[in-house]
Amino acid sequence: MTHAFVSVRELTKEYPVVTGFLGKKATLTAVSDISFDIGEGKTFGLVGESGSGKTTTARMILGAEPATSGSVKIDGKPLMNEKGRVDPVLRRMMQPVLQDPYTSLSPRMCVGHIIDEPLRTQKLLSGERALAQRVSELLDMVGLPQDAARRYPNELSGGQRQRVAIARAIAPKPRFLVLDEPVSALDVSIQAQILNLLKDLQSEFKLTYLLISHDLSVVSFMSDAIGVMYLGRFMEIGPKDEVLRRSSHPYTMILKSAASTDEGAALPISGEIPSPLSPPSGCPFHTRCPFSQQICATTQPELEAGPAGQFSACHFAKDIRAGKPAGTCATLATGAMGR
Ligand SMILES: Nc1ncnc2c1ncn2[C@@H]1O[C@H](COP(=O)(O)OP(=O)(O)OP(=O)(O)O)[C@@H](O)[C@H]1O
Ligand SMILES: [Mg+2]
Repeated sequence: MTHAFVSVRELTKEYPVVTGFLGKKATLTAVSDISFDIGEGKTFGLVGESGSGKTTTARMILGAEPATSGSVKIDGKPLMNEKGRVDPVLRRMMQPVLQDPYTSLSPRMCVGHIIDEPLRTQKLLSGERALAQRVSELLDMVGLPQDAARRYPNELSGGQRQRVAIARAIAPKPRFLVLDEPVSALDVSIQAQILNLLKDLQSEFKLTYLLISHDLSVVSFMSDAIGVMYLGRFMEIGPKDEVLRRSSHPYTMILKSAASTDEGAALPISGEIPSPLSPPSGCPFHTRCPFSQQICATTQPELEAGPAGQFSACHFAKDIRAGKPAGTCATLATGAMGR
């Protein structure tokens, strides 16, 4: 069995917020009771629409945001030490790569300095020659020419900037990268190059990835396991092939349908995501689910195990899995998305 390098348990984040003209206090639950493991050298893909809680989950795992409750362990050790601070050894093991290389790279620093800054500030390497040597190796690793070291971010293309961000992230030899929408700001043709680079680096250095994307095709290309989030909760989670080929939650099916180029595959989704300040009763997805039944409005389904390691929070998961023409699930089971 693969060693769980990252272990997340019942992670929840509530934000106190002030709403409306009267300044009423309320609680916004951004992430609710999220649990998953990532095996060493594996990729866990977190997918869901805007506002579903993906970045909040990532920030808690990086220790950038305190969790309201729940725990994170990296390499078997609690992320937070007894003093309530992020364990410094674990902090060094993880690095984020963010969506927008235009804003995440300092415009006044040349690329060489951007890349060696974490090595200098964390005193991981000293001496100008050693630093220049390491920058040169890192530029090679991410497929940038050596003269890029003297250039500034505004002289580079979006894809090149993301390569710089990746070089900076791997400079301190981390074991775990949190990739939050790493290719969303890039042209589609460049996206594949960056994703392939990330895959190559992963296999070369046995890196573990948490990959966040609203794009199912990105998550599908990269991940070993997938968690589908909606309004801060997992709707479905499990091995990639189970979640994508034998989906047992209507929300996963709708995301697949939206990503499909096959016109006949379209499943309808209506309305906007409800406000996380007043989430629907019962199943959080029921207000937009084309197959919603009475029970869905009243009772929140728990994540229940399917036969092959996947968990689904749908009252009708068994019927969907069985392809049984039970009630309205017949359409789901036999429809275009039942492939
Ligand atoms: N500091 C904060 N205070 C209050 N609410 C917050 C805060 N940060 C995030 N939220 C809310 O938490 C919810 C989840 O936000 P989050 O950024 O995690 O979503 P996301 O899935 O990353 O979305 P996107 O795809 O747009 O990046 C949203 O409703 C957001 O408005
Ligand atoms: Mg986000």
